[in-house]
Amino acid sequence: MRLAILLSGRGSNFVAIHEAIARGELQAEIVCVISNRPDAPGVERARSLGLSAFVVDHRKFTSRAAHEAEVLRILGQANPDLIVLAGYMRLLSSEFVAAYPMRIVNIHPSLLPSFPGVDAQAQAVAYGVKVSGCTVHFVDENLDAGPIIVQRIVPVRDDDDASTLAARILDEEHVAYVEALKKLASGTYRVDGRRVVFD
Ligand code: GRF
Repeated sequence: MRLAILLSGRGSNFVAIHEAIARGELQAEIVCVISNRPDAPGVERARSLGLSAFVVDHRKFTSRAAHEAEVLRILGQANPDLIVLAGYMRLLSSEFVAAYPMRIVNIHPSLLPSFPGVDAQAQAVAYGVKVSGCTVHFVDENLDAGPIIVQRIVPVRDDDDASTLAARILDEEHVAYVEALKKLASGTYRVDGRRVVFD
């Protein structure tokens, strides 16, 4: 399975995926890493690992469409089976999503459909839920809304703030993303409406 990683920052999910591949746990290859931010630690890490890494700085383009066209051009050359959003802080247009239907996956730090959007961990603490977690899902044209592939549960402690909860969820994100990609690499699944069904 050929993976293209899109990220904007730290890149710990990308590194977790890379390490699972290096361990032989995940049968996949990272064919490119694309960051929209030149200063993203994740893209530096990709370079140091010898991966094909690109910066497509959205601030240098006059429109969302022009930025996406350049990302799509690079993706077209890399020819991925799956596009993996790993902390990619850009909304994808419906045209972008339509170019890779059910071939773009994302991870979100809550149990969707609870707490979509930004600051999901802070939303969970503020709401007072006793459990939260993370969700790996296919990307459709709506925010944090596509069919769910894997979820993992994380307890919310009484003394949590957004940052302690985020750290606990992040550990599970790394497991969840590898688990989801392993399931997809097995190839035996179908998307039936909202449901991702594994054989
Ligand atoms: C993670 O919390 C992920 O759920 C969210 O952005 C964060 C990315 O972290 N979409 P990292 O860059 O993978 O460390």
